[in-house]
Amino acid sequence: MVSIVDKFQIKGLKLKNRIVMPPMCQYSSFAEDGQVTDWHIQHYLSRAIGGVGLIIIEMTDIEPDGRITNQDLGLWTDQQIEGIRKIVDACHQYGTKVGIQIAHAGRKALDAQVPVSASPIAYDNDSKTPRELTISEIEEMVEKFGQAARRAVAAGVDTIEIHGAHGYLIHQFQSHYTNHRQDIYGKNLSLFGSQVVARVKRELPDSMPLIMRISAIEYVKNGYGLTESLDFSADYLKAGVDIFHISSGGEGPIGSGGQPGVHAGYQVPFAQAFKEKFNVPVIAVGKLSDYQLANSVIGNQAADLVAIGRGMLRNPYWTLEMADQLKDSQFVPKQYERAFSRHLK
Ligand SMILES: Cc1cc2nc3c(=O)[nH]c(=O)nc-3n(C[C@H](O)[C@H](O)[C@H](O)COP(=O)(O)O)c2cc1C
Repeated sequence: MVSIVDKFQIKGLKLKNRIVMPPMCQYSSFAEDGQVTDWHIQHYLSRAIGGVGLIIIEMTDIEPDGRITNQDLGLWTDQQIEGIRKIVDACHQYGTKVGIQIAHAGRKALDAQVPVSASPIAYDNDSKTPRELTISEIEEMVEKFGQAARRAVAAGVDTIEIHGAHGYLIHQFQSHYTNHRQDIYGKNLSLFGSQVVARVKRELPDSMPLIMRISAIEYVKNGYGLTESLDFSADYLKAGVDIFHISSGGEGPIGSGGQPGVHAGYQVPFAQAFKEKFNVPVIAVGKLSDYQLANSVIGNQAADLVAIGRGMLRNPYWTLEMADQLKDSQFVPKQYERAFSRHLK
């Protein structure tokens, strides 16, 4: 019987357990230069000491106007490699592997003067109307994803996650709600995402798996559902994805066509559907911070890895406490052993 504290391996990526810290923007590049600050290093390092198997560094943008805000992390110049390397090296000391989520916010770039997207459709009444990308600009965008991936590999990451979820640029192309183009990118909604996957893959060593984060369903009226996301994800798989990270929503104002579940584990059935259809490793995420619940996702083989977001913001030692409650304290650093039950008399 497989458990959340068991090791996991795909290609050359070896994890000491099945727990992932998912990407979570910190908006902490205070000089608006996309650079890593002390905050980022302490933030990720404390979760590494806290025993998590894989950290996926927050949404890191491939160009300045691809940022949600000007405080986002970036990988659009080689000068940004060193900061990411510092996070990676710090976490590696404690046996935690590190990935990075590379992204473009598209029409959700709040600080861009004129954001770009698949089509000129604003997110809501208060948002700027984006400019439709030309075909040559789309080709340049694919190349920018490739260059960001090259920099991430140079920084020493163990894996890369492409952000195809939460209503950002790749999602904007793959959804008929936000993509009204008449050209090849409108006829084939997964073309842009597939090109990004293939281009990023070229930068990865053969031993490095590629993760893609997908919104499995949309909540807007007439948005796409699970059948469609499984269909377009088949194209991403063919283009080179090794692991899917399954989330949902983000394409429009919440409540305009449904609501994300508020119950624990509400996205797990989507992760399970991806696992069953593609037979590749899948990360489940979303309200899984209850220890027994998180373990049950792995035990029931609904997913291969479990990501804990807000639970890990509240408690960097989530992994240590979870493992201790499951009567397994193998991840506790020796400096902290006296605080955990195996050692309490
Ligand atoms: C502060 C914060 C920042 C986030 N930033 C990102 C991000 O950069 N990229 C992303 O894909 N998801 C982001 N998310 C979503 C999380 O990765 C995760 O999917 C979500 O919080 C649900 O998991 P949870 O219930 O364990 O928190 C963010 C969530 C939070 C709370």
